[in-house]
Amino acid sequence: MLPRLSPDHDSSKQGQQGSGGAYMLISEGLEANEVVRVQESDARRLWNFAQQLAAGEQIERLDAEQLAELGTVLTSTLPEAVLRAAHRFRNRGTTHDVLLLRGILPADHDLGPTPGSATSPRHGHANLCALNLMAVMNMFGEPFTFEDLYGGRLVQDVVAAQGKESAQTSEGSDCFLEWHVEDAFSSDRCDYFGLLCLRGDPAAATILAPARALVLPDEARKVLMQPRYTVLPDIAHGENPEPQTGVAVLTGTREAPEIRFDPIYMVPADPADDEARSAFEFLTEAVKATAVSHVLQPGDLIVVDNRRVVHARSAFQPRFDGSGRWLMRTMVCSSLPRHRRRQSRRAI
Ligand SMILES: [Fe+2]
Repeated sequence: MLPRLSPDHDSSKQGQQGSGGAYMLISEGLEANEVVRVQESDARRLWNFAQQLAAGEQIERLDAEQLAELGTVLTSTLPEAVLRAAHRFRNRGTTHDVLLLRGILPADHDLGPTPGSATSPRHGHANLCALNLMAVMNMFGEPFTFEDLYGGRLVQDVVAAQGKESAQTSEGSDCFLEWHVEDAFSSDRCDYFGLLCLRGDPAAATILAPARALVLPDEARKVLMQPRYTVLPDIAHGENPEPQTGVAVLTGTREAPEIRFDPIYMVPADPADDEARSAFEFLTEAVKATAVSHVLQPGDLIVVDNRRVVHARSAFQPRFDGSGRWLMRTMVCSSLPRHRRRQSRRAI
């Protein structure tokens, strides 16, 4: 039997549920092997080529498949430093199993106002940003999305939505967005996702915890590797998906474990399984103790290994005047044939 966490277990220094403010004390935390600074001249060259491609295509009218194809053409113009870093990341990972590209967008482009929702029409330079994101993410697999997620958009705008400030989805803002992996309920969740920052907010830290750095008692680790949990579907997917039961939280080797973690939607499959519940509590504390954070700035593109890293976001005050935080997000699967075999609910 696992011991319960003691009542005085110190979680105060790592941001308590619902606040997230303490995470702001951790600056950066990413290491040199996972950060690439793109030269301004390279970003300009990439942007110019994206403009050229978009001009010949009426980019607003492209469907998801056509946008992904155009992104592939742009991949050929990525700087050598980015191509090499992506190769290393795919093959060996990094200290925190994330890769941060800085300055991937030129500094002086005119974006227009931040859209009001994840599915607002996209215009002008925002389309070029989406293409840039696609060009990078193509190196990590096949871009895809779920049919029922934000209108099946391949590149989603991550913006605060009015009336959803407290939502535990990417539309929320003034609450701590709890730890999760993307789409934990689905075996077809993405292998990687990328977030491109068009407009930042100094209070909104992206918080990351790699599974390989988790310090856990052996007994808790053993329980977490057993199929003793149920994952309920994320509300962002509407009512359609079914819960998955008989799920293990940790899989793989001790040196390079994979993690499926979403405390809001995960429960012991057997409500009487106190051991599973206790192991999960240990894990939650271990995740907090492992966290590093990064405040995304315009031109930052962070690629996260969704099989090995859990993430969260600190609270920030939304602005609904067109100047608020604006990210774009794309998910990729590293094996399209595997997804096809499962007949996943994909948009493409
Ligand atoms: Fe997320």
